[in-house]
Amino acid sequence: MKVLVATEKPFAKVAVDGIREEVVKAGYELALLEKYTNKQQLLDAVQDADAIIIRSDVVDAEVLDAAKQLKIVVRAGAGYDNIDLAAATAHQVVAMNTPGQNSNAVAELALGLMVYAVRNLYNGTSGTELKGKKLGIHAFGNVGRNVARIAQGFGMDIYAFDAYCPDDAMIQAGVTPVHSAEELYKTCDVVSLHIPATDETKNSINKALVGLMPKGGVLVNTARKEVINETELIALMQERTDLRYVTDIMPAADAKFRELFDGRYFATPKKMGAQTAEANINAGIAAAKQIVDFFVNGNTRFQVNK
Ligand code: 3PG
Repeated sequence: MKVLVATEKPFAKVAVDGIREEVVKAGYELALLEKYTNKQQLLDAVQDADAIIIRSDVVDAEVLDAAKQLKIVVRAGAGYDNIDLAAATAHQVVAMNTPGQNSNAVAELALGLMVYAVRNLYNGTSGTELKGKKLGIHAFGNVGRNVARIAQGFGMDIYAFDAYCPDDAMIQAGVTPVHSAEELYKTCDVVSLHIPATDETKNSINKALVGLMPKGGVLVNTARKEVINETELIALMQERTDLRYVTDIMPAADAKFRELFDGRYFATPKKMGAQTAEANINAGIAAAKQIVDFFVNGNTRFQVNK
């Protein structure tokens, strides 16, 4: 049985060591494809793999066609928009994620981006504090909950909108539930995005919504670039010279944002929310364990293509 770790953006070495330990303990073989620069390398590497562990690596129909032995692909992380789920099902391949394993890392980065934004990108000028400001958490999943926990330490006043989460869960976490995205954006000084990229959410963060934010509003994106309507956000930020956008996922129009919004825009060079040793260990080892549990016991608890 061969388990391939295919990561264009590699895990920390300590996480790869942990994955190897799990795989070898089960009597399987580990193969590693890191920092690959073209799809052909991935297509070649998957040929004899029974299982694959990926991060944001794209597993589409072409990859699944090439992976003749494949039974399971595990996305070591939360979002699985990089896997063609219908194609996986058609190929009788089980697709899983590892929910919650890297969420603290992403949440810490979200707070880091907030501080960076309100301190004027650390340019030496006088900024503002997060304490006493209203934070809007857009989607109250694993990352959103961690953001709430950390933001409480900053003394923020926290609101959340999540159509799929009961009010009680928010109230118990010390968060005020609101019942529409519009209400969240209208209310909050800072909005932090934690929605997945789905047909429903793509392009949904648009001019009408972000334009509701109060003066000096900060939009923080550690979710996905696809949820942003970039054309409309650019138009809005041209009109509203008080708004700021900080993101861990470089927009397609990064050059334009940089040119137009100096001091009000920041993007990390590569998505790094989950790029910590701890998150890599948690998500990578969980992925390896889920693969072993699937082969040994048929456990499909974290399957996402049911
Ligand atoms: C996730 O969905 O788990 C995060 O976006 C992290 O993605 P990454 O593994 O590519 O860093």
